[in-house]
Amino acid sequence: MYCIKKITDDLTWVGANDRRLAMFEGVYNVPDGVSYNSYLLTDEKTVLFDTVDKSVHHRFLENLEAALRGRTLDYLVVHHMEPDHSASVIELTIKYPEMKIVCNEKILALIKQFNYFDTDSRVCLVTENDTLQTGRHTIRFLMAPMVHWPEVMVSYDMTDKVLFSADAFGCFGALNGALFSDEVDFKRDYMDEARRYYSNIVGKYGPQVEALLEKTSALDTKMICPLHGFIWRKNTGDILSKYALWSSYTPEENGVMIAYASVYGNTENAAELLACKLRDKGVKTVMFDVSVTPASNIISAAFKWSHLVFASTTYNAGIFVTMESLISDLVEHNIQNRTVAIIENGSWAPTSGELMRGKLSECRNLTFIDKTISLLSSLRMEQLEELDEMAEAIAATFPQSAVAAPAVKTEALPPPPADVDPTAAFKFTYGLFVLTARDGDKDNGCIINTAIQITEKPFRISVAVNKANFTCDMILKTGEFNISILAESVPFSVFQQFGFQSGRDADKFNGCGYDTRAANGIMYLPENTTGVMSGKVADTYDYGSHMLFIADVTQAFVLSPEMSVTYQYYFAHIKPKPPAPKEKKAGYVCRICGYVHEGDELPDDFICPLCKHGAEDFEKL
Ligand code: FEO
Repeated sequence: MYCIKKITDDLTWVGANDRRLAMFEGVYNVPDGVSYNSYLLTDEKTVLFDTVDKSVHHRFLENLEAALRGRTLDYLVVHHMEPDHSASVIELTIKYPEMKIVCNEKILALIKQFNYFDTDSRVCLVTENDTLQTGRHTIRFLMAPMVHWPEVMVSYDMTDKVLFSADAFGCFGALNGALFSDEVDFKRDYMDEARRYYSNIVGKYGPQVEALLEKTSALDTKMICPLHGFIWRKNTGDILSKYALWSSYTPEENGVMIAYASVYGNTENAAELLACKLRDKGVKTVMFDVSVTPASNIISAAFKWSHLVFASTTYNAGIFVTMESLISDLVEHNIQNRTVAIIENGSWAPTSGELMRGKLSECRNLTFIDKTISLLSSLRMEQLEELDEMAEAIAATFPQSAVAAPAVKTEALPPPPADVDPTAAFKFTYGLFVLTARDGDKDNGCIINTAIQITEKPFRISVAVNKANFTCDMILKTGEFNISILAESVPFSVFQQFGFQSGRDADKFNGCGYDTRAANGIMYLPENTTGVMSGKVADTYDYGSHMLFIADVTQAFVLSPEMSVTYQYYFAHIKPKPPAPKEKKAGYVCRICGYVHEGDELPDDFICPLCKHGAEDFEKL
């Protein structure tokens, strides 16, 4: 039986989940399964965005047929030719003989490599910014080389503002009946899997992901539809800000990841003692036994934490096998911008420390804690001091604000500063609201965070508004307003609409698509709003920069059971984070596959290690 889910009136998820797969791509454990997403747009033309892996091919075909409801398939857009998304291409060409395949040249080459059939007669080739008109919708194509293969592109539905992002913004894990990230506790249950997916699948290609982020930042994106995992229709800033960190190799959190390889427990013992000493200094720590925890989890953690400690026994005069493999993986995944400390062990000739340091030195911008601790079989009592020094040296590199107070306090708290710290105001638990007013035919509104209830009987509220706001003038004149109490689902575009322009020279409701008015005739926001209150001004107080209105509530109603948004939630989840300051990298990028060669010079005889094209196909970054 088909299993499809509606996303919008004309967009349907027709993908499928695989919970039997042990190792994704043969390498990554997926204990919670994986989804292969495919999306069908039913407009005047029907358009399928990507197919699925062969393991779920039959369910997918059933889904597609059900979603088409007797119509034929006009277009298949192929964003990425990795077989987990393209296994059904050939079957679709047989089933829908009139179907056109929309792709770029590199995708076409891969189609021919993977599935030889007559493609040329049915292919519509697209390049950067080409569009496809399907009726009501216009689809624009953007190239995204190396996110995750060289042929990758993404597309943007300019009509409904949907980004079909290929592997970008994907996540391990089957969908389990949900489809949207806001239907689950993504931060708690899935963010680690999103990072594990990112760091292992595209972590190596940070500059190419940054290039895609730069392109998509110019788009007004309301929804992100990736090829794996949940669709983002709310709080897209949550995942976009993580991608900005991951792609620039910026740690997400201050803390120490300790990875150890220990045959008989003595290296583990030293690692554990170091973790205790760090915790005593208020430093966050996580630990992994590299022989037990899958490497993909440890790579993901390395992308998260600011400091990395590697502790390994010596084995066959080298690094212990699982640690050697982990470090090679980390180097290949381009890990950088971290502080690193090393502990080695060896019963007769410890060499693993120098070897680990040598391998890691291939990474960019790693800062090593000078002294390596060298164990002979086990930690000796007199070496406790060395562990203390290492813990001290690591802790000293953290900003003071990142180090929690020690668990046991022995000193009295210092007296608080006597002056006024304006940032203390950020600790207020403000809400966020759209304050609307109407004067004649003019509707207007602005964002405020200063509406509160004063009394219950009579039901009175106060609202403080900056006098520079046009809405303030309108309320002074008319004595009436509405407050739309914003929900946590409110997108950043609402703040842009009502907060980043003036009602004196813009119609803030232009193109909003609704005309919802309370009994006082003033607009309110029907979406992303938990409740609405109408106020009739009883008193007005002039406080210099702001006007304070005391108002009787004349109408009030609840619109949604969602949580109302707070100022802190807005900063944590809605307002996009500024990208990390970019270090201008010197280098050359391959025009064919997107490979980046770092350095000032590109030798004339340079051959791209990925696509084997020569120096003539490279251009300066
Ligand atoms: Fe999910 Fe790169 O394929």
